[in-house]
Amino acid sequence: MHNHLRVISGMRPTGRLHIGHYHGVIKNWVNLQYEHECYFMAADLHALISDYENTKNMEDDIYEMVIDWLACGVDPSQAIIFIQSHVPEHTQLYALLSMITPLSWLERVPSYKEHLENAVSKETDTYGCLGYPLLQSADILLYNANIIPVGEDQVAHVELTREVARRFNHIYGRELGFEDKARETIKKLGSKKSELYQDLLIRYQQNGDDEALIKARFLLTDAINLSLGEKERLFAFLENKSKVILTEPQALVSDTPKIVGIDGQKMSKSFNNTIVLREDIDSISKKIRAMPTDPARIRRDDPGDPAKCPVWQLHQIYSSPDTKQWVQNGCVSAGIGCLECKAPVIESIYAEQTGFIENAKQYKDDLNLIKNILADGAEKAAEVASETIAEVKQVMNIDY
Ligand code: TRP
Ligand code: SF4
Repeated sequence: MHNHLRVISGMRPTGRLHIGHYHGVIKNWVNLQYEHECYFMAADLHALISDYENTKNMEDDIYEMVIDWLACGVDPSQAIIFIQSHVPEHTQLYALLSMITPLSWLERVPSYKEHLENAVSKETDTYGCLGYPLLQSADILLYNANIIPVGEDQVAHVELTREVARRFNHIYGRELGFEDKARETIKKLGSKKSELYQDLLIRYQQNGDDEALIKARFLLTDAINLSLGEKERLFAFLENKSKVILTEPQALVSDTPKIVGIDGQKMSKSFNNTIVLREDIDSISKKIRAMPTDPARIRRDDPGDPAKCPVWQLHQIYSSPDTKQWVQNGCVSAGIGCLECKAPVIESIYAEQTGFIENAKQYKDDLNLIKNILADGAEKAAEVASETIAEVKQVMNIDY
């Protein structure tokens, strides 16, 4: 059963996913889907921001990525899986939020600053790049999501989202002229009670006096010459609250360490050192066998140190405590050779990928299954998204 918290996360369809995505992100999604109402999105618009000149493979990349998600255990009967651009409310909210977002907030987002530093040409320095995190904010706020599972590099985007939500709520969360109306309403309490209310208000707001808050609430509850709406207005005024329209989300950073690539660097498509999801056994075996190990182990009888070996990092993920003990003992005593040591890793990755290949088969055979899941997901997502947009337009007074 799902509790009342909502989760949204997205991934850009920019080519094949690798085992780092599985252990760092997707496994986490699979666990979250049983607990919370989850939205998992193929962020094709975000992919366009960097790849707008190279869009030929977008559709296939989306399907391959979603097949990977499902093969890894993301379950369309538990989570809502959809394509970002299939729900046009994303771009709508993005545009509306852009009206209230100070330029400086976007300019100081670390990923944007990094992008500017690394930009190879003016062509990659687009308006879309600047707006990238705001589009992500729209993705999140559209569903009033509470929990955002992201990598360390995305935490600043969730932080921006919180600021944008706060600003939106501040600007549009109050009825027009809220403060003036509240002041007028206070007068209706009669001179003695209005004086007392204002006194309690100051004690609560300036000194954090909770007792004053309770007393003020009683005072309002008992006030006979206020309507229900007027009482509510003064309740809200007490707590200096504006109505919450957009929910401030929290980032959930996964604690899985970055997986090591087959060259010993961090696994990443741009380093060309990945083992992709559903990779075939021969290729897995070839890659792992060629992996560098502790450079001290030149000959078979040179002892080594697992701490200096990238293969050991894979054992952390793929091996049982017993196997890890065997590696420790065998490495430092030169009791085992490196190829021997790599065999259980190859075995485990192979077993994992064989399962994924099997799970993916039905979808590979019939792409319509995927298309239907995505259409269904977009429909469900749009139900929530359209409600948010309706409310946003209403408070912005553009719902004519
Ligand atoms: N920017 C994210 C990434 O590159 C993907 C993404 C898009 C996302 N929209 C999102 C993640 C909303 C979380 C929530 O990883
Ligand atoms: Fe690495 Fe294993 Fe070789 Fe030790 S024995 S260096 S841990 S591959």
